[in-house]
Amino acid sequence: MIRTVIAAVDGSEPSTRAVRMAADIAAKYDAELLLVHVLHWRRVPEPLRRLAEIEHLVEPETRRTVPLTYIELPPEPTEDMRILAALGEFWLNEAELTARGRGAVKVKKVPVEGRPAEALIREAERRGADLLACGTRGHGELAALLLGSVAHELLQLAPCPVLAVK
Ligand SMILES: Nc1ncnc2c1ncn2[C@@H]1O[C@H](COP(=O)(O)OP(=O)(O)OP(=O)(O)O)[C@@H](O)[C@H]1O
Ligand SMILES: [Mg+2]
Repeated sequence: MIRTVIAAVDGSEPSTRAVRMAADIAAKYDAELLLVHVLHWRRVPEPLRRLAEIEHLVEPETRRTVPLTYIELPPEPTEDMRILAALGEFWLNEAELTARGRGAVKVKKVPVEGRPAEALIREAERRGADLLACGTRGHGELAALLLGSVAHELLQLAPCPVLAVK
């Protein structure tokens, strides 16, 4: 019985494909679909900074970011944190549209903080997930890599079956 499915959302193409498959499975079993994005506070990698500008999440001139609607920032956030949070909301909103478009109904957006693999495993444990879907790759810049470090750790340590989508 599949009651709870988690999709690990980082906005990359493989992650979006994982969201689609997770949504198909959730729709079939009438399961809850949790879209989990982990806010990993760090320097924003240049390609993501550019993406945030292209999507109008940050103004290149003033460096102001769009107001957040459901992610809470720690007090006195840095500019990098504001950009990462704005991207997080953007990716989760996109993932929700994708999931609902595939017929998933019980969809929840879940932003959490921490190291991505650790935080995803914690959520899977806490929520008793029956399936955890992720992409094999993310936004990482090592093009030759077949499996990213987050996917690798999930496959090794997650408490439930992992669907790693290419
Ligand atoms: N911050 C995150 N929040 C939620 N899911 C994530 C996050 N980072 C990665 N993932 C999930 O893990 C999958 C694999 O990404 P991973 O980070 O392992 O690959 P990578 O970015 O190519 O490599 P690396 O991060 O090791 O440089 C993504 O498709 C996504 O499903
Ligand atoms: Mg990554």
